[in-house]
Amino acid sequence: MHKTPFPIVLSYSCPPILGIKKLLDSAFLRAGVKNNESNFLAYTDGNLTLYSDVKGERLSASIDFVKGKSMHRRQYGGGKNQPMAKACGLDKHPKWKILDATAGLGKDAFVLASLGAQITLCEQHVALYSLLVDAIHRASQVEEVADIVKRMTCMQGNSIEYLDRGDMDADVIYLDPMYPHRKKSAKIKKEMQVLQQLVGHEGNAEKLLNTALKTAKNRVVVKRPKQAGPLNDLTPSYKVSSANTRYDVYVM
Ligand SMILES: C[S@@+](CC[C@H](N)C(=O)[O-])C[C@H]1O[C@@H](n2cnc3c(N)ncnc32)[C@H](O)[C@@H]1O
Repeated sequence: MHKTPFPIVLSYSCPPILGIKKLLDSAFLRAGVKNNESNFLAYTDGNLTLYSDVKGERLSASIDFVKGKSMHRRQYGGGKNQPMAKACGLDKHPKWKILDATAGLGKDAFVLASLGAQITLCEQHVALYSLLVDAIHRASQVEEVADIVKRMTCMQGNSIEYLDRGDMDADVIYLDPMYPHRKKSAKIKKEMQVLQQLVGHEGNAEKLLNTALKTAKNRVVVKRPKQAGPLNDLTPSYKVSSANTRYDVYVM
């Protein structure tokens, strides 16, 4: 995990928003120079973007909750009957509060929020958290998604620590840990390669599941590759499947 302040290349034409300024002030981020860094944040066309050198190639990732895939999924994703929403119980319990304890690029959280869920996103890596804060801010200024992102609250840090302290009040804890290492990495999407470069494959998923099971009020949902076994070899109460993904649901 990144312990030193993460570099961000600032732009006069696009000054950082308050959330990013706070990270600079508290030394989670530091002003950097892009030529010197293999991983850094910078503004590109007004979007905070994460750049990463992966196997000699400079890759990038940023978040857009307004256009592209987020828009497509919002419009045609299948509503509350789509597998992820059903696994989280949104079809029957629209008022349940959800904690996305592995927020990443916030795609899953945005889908759940677009279906009406109040959702807290917790992301441990400060660069990914910065992308989330920036994307939520931009979306809050666009009428068609402003109400959706109002339901999304972002926290930076290790979810295990928040849960252990009893700081979270979640009906559902949603976990999407990094998938196990695959040999054919050429098939992995570029933004996922950037994530892997930053946070690696391994992690604290086993401990996170144990902690979530002790603290969730109603259920824990774990997103898994369809062919993978359950996390911690723990048989779920039931499973909800989609084309390539399985959601293991542990009911309290
Ligand atoms: C596969 S990604 C999640 C992708 C996300 N579901 C999405 O839709 O974009 C996993 C993320 O969980 C984060 N993570 C893993 N363990 C965590 C923990 N204990 N606390 C907070 N974040 C964690 C990683 O840093 C990584 O960004």
